[in-house]
Amino acid sequence: MPRKGPRPLALRVLLAVARGRFLAPTLDWALDRSGLAGPDRGLAVRLAYGTLQRLLYLDHVLAPWLRAPDRLPPEARWILRLGAYERLFLRTPDHAAVHQWVGIAKARAPGHAGLVNAVLRRVGDRPAPAWVRASIPRFLYRHWQTYFGEAGFVPELNRPPPLWVTALPGAEGTLRAEGVGFRPGPVPGSLALSGAPLRSLAAYRRGLVQPQNPASLLAAQLLEAAPGERVLDLAGGAGLKAAWLAAQGARVTSYDRDRRKQAAGRRNLARLGLEVAFVTADLTRGLADTAPKVLLDAPCTGTGTLRRHPEIRYRLRADDPQRMQTRQAALLEVAAGAVAPGGRLVYAVCSLTEAEGEAVVEGFLQAHPEFEAEPLALPVPALKTGLGAYVRPEAGLDGFYYARLRRR
Ligand SMILES: C[S@@+](CC[C@H](N)C(=O)[O-])C[C@H]1O[C@@H](n2cnc3c(N)ncnc32)[C@H](O)[C@@H]1O
Repeated sequence: MPRKGPRPLALRVLLAVARGRFLAPTLDWALDRSGLAGPDRGLAVRLAYGTLQRLLYLDHVLAPWLRAPDRLPPEARWILRLGAYERLFLRTPDHAAVHQWVGIAKARAPGHAGLVNAVLRRVGDRPAPAWVRASIPRFLYRHWQTYFGEAGFVPELNRPPPLWVTALPGAEGTLRAEGVGFRPGPVPGSLALSGAPLRSLAAYRRGLVQPQNPASLLAAQLLEAAPGERVLDLAGGAGLKAAWLAAQGARVTSYDRDRRKQAAGRRNLARLGLEVAFVTADLTRGLADTAPKVLLDAPCTGTGTLRRHPEIRYRLRADDPQRMQTRQAALLEVAAGAVAPGGRLVYAVCSLTEAEGEAVVEGFLQAHPEFEAEPLALPVPALKTGLGAYVRPEAGLDGFYYARLRRR
């Protein structure tokens, strides 16, 4: 029975994602235990990401061939989606792809192997509205068109990103010595690696590189923290941004309410040889701390990260940005109270919605004349600028919103 190999692995992973898991950690976990390497590993990754990135379109092309797709057993439905993705997007010769998926159907959905065979032989491209073709929920696609005046960046969200890392001093020499190719990213300290799985690299094991999107790194850089300066990293999670700030010599305290993320952060900071004080706290209850530099990387809908987290888009509801705005505004109040006079506050979210970006900052500034927005000159392309700026999610960049506020 075909239980091993890239296709059964992609199927198992997508079934787990359909039950509520997140794609990236589930796929990493499965790959680590699979023994797959080289092109097989690459195929498993492309199948899992690609199928999720194209889900609305795949369901659209499968629809004419299925009477009641919602009533199919999940195994059969995901085999059809994966098989259609492989045929239409990876261009595996038709007979080879169909043969493989029928074999898997015989093992995992035996009553439906005939259907899989018949449908995968016939399925082909169909005209579709732009939001279906890009597999972006209609409400979000429309929001982007009206708020940003364009959605030309959308196809980019379905292309694989480079392997972005943040490099600490000494990283480039070690990467060169172990024969890993790399090119500089758009912000200082960011590199795009080509080649081996990251965790097998000496540069990773020695704590010289940290996976991180350049747009995420830029949020920390906008603080312009000086060596020795005290920084509060609020909603700091596992301390990714705190790590960069600590590497610049800042004295960082990272607050988050998630104990497990912070435990992972402590281990990671130890790998990197850096020091950050982690404090577990629910920030909506207030914060008895102040510093000249405060970063709030607020919880958000993650709509700027759909490339890396394709499943998020199907879990989003149209009112989620508005609901997140209430939480973000409350956290921004707390963060503002922690900024020393003359100090700086960076508000960041990895989201591309008006509600979570400009609307939060506009409401805040109206209520806080003691703060003013500082102009931002970004080293990355901007989708829209106002009080803050939205990063255009092109060339592998996550979409972000940042605002930099100065306390008078
Ligand atoms: C966008 S993530 C932060 C990512 C992190 N800064 C990084 O660079 O990896 C948002 C974080 O907000 C935290 N969070 C959400 N609500 C919170 C609250 N009320 N108090 C403290 N942390 C909170 C979550 O646990 C999550 O880690």
